[in-house]
Amino acid sequence: MEINLPKGTHDVILDEARAYDRIETVFKAAADLYGFNEMRTPVIEHTELFVRSVGDSSDIVRKEMYTFKDKGDRSITLRPELTAGIMRSIVNNKLYATQDLPLKAYYVGPAFRYERPQLGRYRQFNQFGVEAVGVTSPYSDAEVIMLGFNALKMLGFEDITLKINTLGDEASRNNYRVALKEYFAHHLEGMCEDCKVRYEVNPLRILDCKVPEDQKIVEDAPKMSDYLSPEAKDRFDAILALLDAFSVPYEIDENLVRGLDYYSHVVFEYHYTTKKGVNVGAMGAGGHYDNLISDLGGPALSGVGFACGIERVYALLKDDELLVDTKETTDFYVMPMGEEALQDGFMVGAALRAAGYRTEVCLENKNFKTMFKRAERKGSRFAIIIGDDEIKTETVTMKNMATQEQFKVAYGDLIAKADELFDLEDEEHHHHHEE
Ligand code: HAM
Repeated sequence: MEINLPKGTHDVILDEARAYDRIETVFKAAADLYGFNEMRTPVIEHTELFVRSVGDSSDIVRKEMYTFKDKGDRSITLRPELTAGIMRSIVNNKLYATQDLPLKAYYVGPAFRYERPQLGRYRQFNQFGVEAVGVTSPYSDAEVIMLGFNALKMLGFEDITLKINTLGDEASRNNYRVALKEYFAHHLEGMCEDCKVRYEVNPLRILDCKVPEDQKIVEDAPKMSDYLSPEAKDRFDAILALLDAFSVPYEIDENLVRGLDYYSHVVFEYHYTTKKGVNVGAMGAGGHYDNLISDLGGPALSGVGFACGIERVYALLKDDELLVDTKETTDFYVMPMGEEALQDGFMVGAALRAAGYRTEVCLENKNFKTMFKRAERKGSRFAIIIGDDEIKTETVTMKNMATQEQFKVAYGDLIAKADELFDLEDEEHHHHHEE
């Protein structure tokens, strides 16, 4: 009997795997431009880490975590996001004391949330993200927001919608929370069950309610901007001024409150709608945090970061045909005709690989037509045919797969010829690009 995937998971294979690799490469290149270094933390962490960081009033901690007892009776959780693990690692390794601040880390890897699977929503998914820790200046917030924006542009997205808001400092938020509680107390009865829970655990989250019947009530709720301290307002304005100066378009969304409890001040999301009208929710999101490091036993350091969902980025790029170079390619496909030719073919393959050419040798006895088809499917630039004549004369027959042009090359000249062919091809490629 066949065994199926667990619900909400997916295999990343073939073209899609190549596309993921490219997406991650572009994200890493963008992070590298800004001086971020990679960090890799475990997929499993103590459950307590997420309770203290993501927060026990968040939907993630309340109902979406893969939590289990290990054989030593410890409560372990598959990470629902990567920021908490990065912060734990910074504290555990005292990086704030041994490295220059800000610490700038990027990361990529799987995260797990027990959500209802739907378009762009998986139970195991991949995130790429960055965190800058030990920062105070609003320039840092702007820099990280621009890094995400530029990375998405490097991937090929135009017309990215950057939604942005501020949650202010703790004092601003406390005042606002009181105002919201007062307001919603009069409306709660008619609202959805989720909102009733949010009212108790974190009234700000009511602003995020998507239930149509609740929208009118949410619209008329008090606005965060009316409760900001002057410092919090100045900080937000400074960030917006920087985005303006660099022509980064944004939309202020006062109902953007984010689903994780660790944010203060600026929060943001990157959105994109494809030409066919597909929207998978935020392709990336993040914000500024003040207490994450200290809540985990470190010093009082602020930070800012974001994470993008690779699955969502992929789905949007694919829908708009923005994926590039996902077809498989090889330089040479070696086609030995018969058992004896295989020995020579095996050697030719080894020599080409040693010289840095991507080479596949057909190791089974197949007829010419089959091997030629395989060479095509491999995206080979050249086929190398070795038959009885070739063995006798210690030459191979090379065939340019695009032009069908055929020529003989002596075993001893193989690498020199390969170098010549690929130099030539590169030049031709250049010409194509210039035209
Ligand atoms: P988040 O908004 O929970 O933030 O997730 C970030 C991104 O991960 C989302 O915008 C989305 O693209 C993707 N994502 C989230 N859940 C799923 C899912 N079930 N399936 C597919 N993709 C998903 C965070 O995780 C924060 N750690 C971001 C951050 C970093 N804030 C500060 N630093």
